[in-house]
Amino acid sequence: MDSIWIKGGKTLEGDIPISGAKNAALTLMPCALLTEEKLTLTNLPRLADVDTFAHLLNQLGVSTHVAGVKKGEVGRRMTLEADEIVSTVAPYDMVRKMRASVLVLGPMLARMGEATVSLPGGCAIGDRPIDLHLKVLECMGAEIELAAGYVKASAPRGGRLPGGDFSFPVVSVGATENAVMAAVLAKGKTQLFNAAREPEIVDLCNLLVAMGAKIKGIGSAHLIIEGVEGLNGTTYEVMPDRIEAGSYACAAGITGGSLNLIGARPEDMQATLNALAQAGLMIEFHDKGIKVSANGGLKPLALSTSPFPGFATDMQAQFMAMLAMAKGDSFLEETIFENRYMHVPELRRMGADVDIHGRSAIVRGVEQLTGASVMATDLRASMSLVLAGLAAEGETEVLRVYHLDRGYERLEEKLSAVGATIERRTAG
Ligand code: UD1
Repeated sequence: MDSIWIKGGKTLEGDIPISGAKNAALTLMPCALLTEEKLTLTNLPRLADVDTFAHLLNQLGVSTHVAGVKKGEVGRRMTLEADEIVSTVAPYDMVRKMRASVLVLGPMLARMGEATVSLPGGCAIGDRPIDLHLKVLECMGAEIELAAGYVKASAPRGGRLPGGDFSFPVVSVGATENAVMAAVLAKGKTQLFNAAREPEIVDLCNLLVAMGAKIKGIGSAHLIIEGVEGLNGTTYEVMPDRIEAGSYACAAGITGGSLNLIGARPEDMQATLNALAQAGLMIEFHDKGIKVSANGGLKPLALSTSPFPGFATDMQAQFMAMLAMAKGDSFLEETIFENRYMHVPELRRMGADVDIHGRSAIVRGVEQLTGASVMATDLRASMSLVLAGLAAEGETEVLRVYHLDRGYERLEEKLSAVGATIERRTAG
């Protein structure tokens, strides 16, 4: 099994190109199910999750074709075509591998009048139920049956969903995405209240509008969707990955360096940039992206995760690694997931001083972290261990690299290009 080996202590300096956003890609790809015409996505990141999603769509009858990039384009270009849906079942085997598979539920139901999707079960960062995905679809007129670990959703008489109004009791990114994709082809109007406002949802809505959907309130918590009879194909560029950009900003912070995040969009990551500035980093904006530079020692922070525009749960682990070397005590609170501190025991093995009390963590800054062999448990946790390794004295080996490959494109290549001593090692 591959591992990432790092010799810490290098100050990182230079340009890091930011890839297309994984979390946007995984909600834009299922939109191919909503039309018989071709959907072309550009700036798709080369990631295991994107390949897994393409594989799932193939099983449903969507053909996916990766073409060479055209002049001026970055990332990967994929054309998806669903002229005929051959199956409306997302099997356990796929959903188990990648939770985002549940995002075929809404579009498949909208197009085919039925969809059967395996229940995802728990995952490393918590329980992660899908009850809200089902409730909102029910409010839009779907009939929902649960049997043998699967959810079967159907529209009345296998036709189009009527549409309806739903107020989310808690903000859910995934449930908002499923609801929007189901609503665009409904017979009537759907209103979503307390909808998630993440930039990836704005990206989804913008793509759907380009496909002919009628959506008002994009970027707000109140989305009004007027169903249309059919959608057309289009070509659309995936937004830059704000979490990847934030992660590399933390790499500048923890190594005392200066990184130019090429392609990063400040408006997508204001809470992250505010936190970086409070930690003492210098933030500069330029026409190609954002420059993040260390400016003396790191200052401690108090941070609480919350839905956008708040501080993202997907940035918590990386900030914890950085704050482990701040001058003073930081306080972190995780409000989205109940079990998202799996990186803490591993960070402690590298010398971090962290105490967990339920959903809160106290991080007492230390002078120096030390390299160790550490085990990743999930995607962002893995990145926090890489960050700690970049700053640590000595060698660090991060095992279970498949987590990183799900969400960070060419990680070791991007980091070595800015001065890190890092390589992928394949066990014999
Ligand atoms: C969440 C994060 C998203 C992050 C992703 C991967 C938020 C609001 N969402 O999205 O930023 O990129 O994880 O780390 O920050 N919930 C229910 N029932 C449901 C759905 C969700 O109770 O049917 C709860 C969840 O347990 C959680 C909260 O709602 O406490 C938000 O979950 P949700 O946004 O749906 O999760 P993801 O879409 O995975």
